[in-house]
Amino acid sequence: MSMFNQTDTRREKVWDPFVRMFHWTLVSCVMLNLFILEEGKLAHRWSGYIATGLVLARIVWGFIGSKHARFASFFPTPSRLGAHLSAVKTGEHPQVIGHNPLGALMMFALMGLVLSLGVTGYMMGMDAYYEEDWLIDIHGTIANTLMALVGLHALAAIVMSRVERVNLVRAMITGVKEWR
Ligand code: HEM
Ligand code: HEM
Repeated sequence: MSMFNQTDTRREKVWDPFVRMFHWTLVSCVMLNLFILEEGKLAHRWSGYIATGLVLARIVWGFIGSKHARFASFFPTPSRLGAHLSAVKTGEHPQVIGHNPLGALMMFALMGLVLSLGVTGYMMGMDAYYEEDWLIDIHGTIANTLMALVGLHALAAIVMSRVERVNLVRAMITGVKEWR
């Protein structure tokens, strides 16, 4: 199976409508909860559960979705990561149509953190854990970690767009990667 498209393809359909809707709705919910909605209020819990539900749906889509959405096509196995890192070290920038292995690693980290916020958020509402400070701290720490990784993720999307000469952010909107 070829991970890297070494031909001179300039235009590739990559993200299906579900992936794009998933991404930008998830971004909205996470941003609302990090910066706008009041912590712990009903709107915060709804927005948090929508984010959690989206991630669960994305996991299902990772098995049944379109070619580049499926985990099998980009799961960051050690051998894929190793091959990618050694290519990067020699200054190559393999043109990957879907996620490259490092981007995929970030994707799983972001989705894992959102799921953990859903679980710890739910636990905060249980009688057994009601007003437990340690749980609130964990929820807050996960949220801060997510905020930091999101910053790195957005920065990487912009920097790698320049390096790889393809507007990755636009591709996540239109679904099409166009190399310049
Ligand atoms: C994208 C998902 C989420 C993000 C980014 C997020 C973020 C945050 C942040 C930053 C706080 C403040 C924590 C602190 O005081 O240190 C907080 C508090 C809280 N969150 Fe979330 N949250 C998310 C999902 C959820 C979900 C799904 C629930 C479900 C009920 C939830 C329930 C709460 C509650 C009850 C508090 C208030 C804790 C307290 O101060 O009593 N959150 N959240
Ligand atoms: C709360 C903030 C964010 C979260 C939780 C998040 C999460 C994710 C996830 C889970 C994916 C994988 C998409 C999939 O295959 O389904 C992804 C991809 C992507 N995100 Fe974000 N994202 C966030 C913010 C942003 C922002 C602000 C930008 C724009 C600068 C951005 C640009 C991208 C791009 C370009 C991709 C595709 C990367 C590639 O081509 O491999 N994201 N994001």
